Amino acid sequence: MFSIIKIGGSTLENLQPAFFKTLKNKIQNGEKVVIVHGGGPEINKKLKEAGLPIQIKDGIRITSKNALSCVKKALKDIANSNLVERLNQEGIKAVGLCGSEHMLIQCDYLNEEKYGYVGKVKNVNTAILEKLLESGKVPVIASLGITDKGEEVNINADTAAGETASALLATSVCFVTDTSGIQIEGQEMDHLSVTELKQSIHDGHIYGGMIPKVEAVIKCLELNIEEVLITDQSLSGTRCYKEVLAL
Ligand SMILES: Nc1ncnc2c1ncn2[C@@H]1O[C@H](COP(=O)(O)OP(=O)(O)OP(=O)(O)O)[C@@H](O)[C@H]1O
Ligand SMILES: [Mg+2]
Repeated sequence: MFSIIKIGGSTLENLQPAFFKTLKNKIQNGEKVVIVHGGGPEINKKLKEAGLPIQIKDGIRITSKNALSCVKKALKDIANSNLVERLNQEGIKAVGLCGSEHMLIQCDYLNEEKYGYVGKVKNVNTAILEKLLESGKVPVIASLGITDKGEEVNINADTAAGETASALLATSVCFVTDTSGIQIEGQEMDHLSVTELKQSIHDGHIYGGMIPKVEAVIKCLELNIEEVLITDQSLSGTRCYKEVLAL
């Protein structure tokens, strides 16, 4: 039973003991957990230090060659290292991985003209992940990828998490973010169907960084992944469904 947990950049710095306890319980109950993380705030900090602009379109970060080196430093050297260290401190055996290394996440360009060095995932090398999981480790993936020509690319971490879940045929995917779930017109949503999610993007109630998250959610649901959540650290936010709930 594979579970993917995507942890957003803004949440990484504020992870609570209760979250690690829940995670530990899942692992002790036999769930094979893979973590994929973002690093928005850390990337922005690195870009500012380098005097580079922060450009985001529909939740996707436009990534120049120079920006990519900031992205890599922030994601791999800082966010990934810190998270792995914290997990190990909390008694969870974690191993840090970078998606652009060992051909872990193979990509095409999403749209080179529009976004620059941003990847569209072609394949996830699940053998690496399965081997670590079998030895009781938790793989922790920094969301970068590699093209056929060997060029590194930035991948939206929600997209990377969704693609990893698809490749592993996971049973559960949790997108842990800085809101308690999806809100529509100020209202916390307990559950939403694919039709409602698409309509909410269309109506502008879901915007910015929530768009790639919901797009990843829809892809996971279309692949029949059972449990798909957008949530805060409590892991009890908005449950997303392929069909409208039967009454
Ligand atoms: N309907 C909505 N409900 C809740 N949040 C929404 C909604 N529409 C847009 N958002 C925005 O989406 C944000 C979460 O996405 P964001 O990309 O900022 O975080 P993340 O994906 O967790 O982190 P990272 O991108 O660093 O991995 C929220 O903070 C909120 O501003
Ligand atoms: Mg995001």
